[in-house]
Amino acid sequence: MSTQVPETETEAETETEPAGESHQERRMADKAAKREYRESEKKAEDELRAAEESVHLKVFRYDPEVEDKQEPRFDDFYVPYTKGMTVLDALMYARDHYDSSLTFRHSCRQAVCGSDAMFVNGRQRLCCKTQLSEMAEPVRIEPLPHQDVVKDLVVDMEHFYDQMHAVEPYFQSEDVPSEEQRQSRENREKIKMSTRCIWCGACMSSCNVAAGDNEYLGPAAINKAYRFYMDEREDEEELKEHRLRILEQEHGVWRCQTQFSCTEVCPKDIPLTEHIQELKREAVKNNLKFW
Ligand code: SF4
Ligand code: FES
Repeated sequence: MSTQVPETETEAETETEPAGESHQERRMADKAAKREYRESEKKAEDELRAAEESVHLKVFRYDPEVEDKQEPRFDDFYVPYTKGMTVLDALMYARDHYDSSLTFRHSCRQAVCGSDAMFVNGRQRLCCKTQLSEMAEPVRIEPLPHQDVVKDLVVDMEHFYDQMHAVEPYFQSEDVPSEEQRQSRENREKIKMSTRCIWCGACMSSCNVAAGDNEYLGPAAINKAYRFYMDEREDEEELKEHRLRILEQEHGVWRCQTQFSCTEVCPKDIPLTEHIQELKREAVKNNLKFW
C-alpha cells in the first residue's frame, strides 16, 4: 500500500509544517485511509469466500520509480466473479480491494473513450468491452505491445497521437460555407465506418510493420486521413493532392503489407486494411494523371 503512516503516534509537530493541514490532521487522515484499506481487503476476502465463482488474473506489473518494482513481473489476483463482469471490472476490483498502486487507464466503461486498450490473453482488446466469461484462465493482462510502458498497464501514447496529427485530421477547406453544408447519404455511408475510431491504439500495437518502422503512420492515422480525403465537403483538388502527398511518403500507405492484423483487433470493426488499399489506389490514380 502506498499510504505512509508514521511509526509512532507521539511524533511532535514541527515549526516547518505547511499552513493549512496540520500534522495531527494528516496523521488522522493516514490512519483513516489505512483502516479503510484493511476493511476493503477483508470485505474482498469475505466476498471471495462467498462467491460461487472466482477469476484468476495474472497482471503485468512494472514501476520505474520504485526500487523493488523496476523488474517487470506478473502479480496474481483472485476476484469474485459476477455475471456480466468485464476485464475492466475485474481490474478495478483488484485495485480497489487488494493493491491500490495497480495502475491502468479507463474512463467511459462503455467502449467510447478508447483509454483501456490492453493486451488480454494474447490479443489487443478494450477491457471494458471484454467479458470475463469469454476469457480462458488465468486471464493474462499486459500493456499494449510495441509501446513504451510508463507504469503497470499504462503505455506512452505520445507517438501514436503524433502520427494521428501528422495526417492533419481536420477540415481545411478555404471555402467557409455561408450556410449549412449538407452531405449526401451515399457519402455519409462511405465514410461512416472510418469516423468510428476512438483513438485506442489497438491497431497500431498489433501492426508488425509499425513495430519495425517507428515512422510508419500506422492504420489509425491512415484511416483518419481516409475519413477526410473521402469526405465530399472538402472537395478542392489541391487539398486532395496535399492529403495524398502525406500518405504517399516513405512511411505512408505503401508500407502496409495487408496483414489484416489491425482490422482483426479494431474494437470498432473499422475495415482498416480495406481503407488503406483504397487510398493506395487513389494515390496510383493521382500519379497516373501526370503521365
Ligand atoms: S482504428 Fe480501431 S483499433 Fe485503431 S485506434 Fe481507431 S478504434 Fe482503435
Ligand atoms: S473505458 Fe472507455 S473505452 Fe473502455
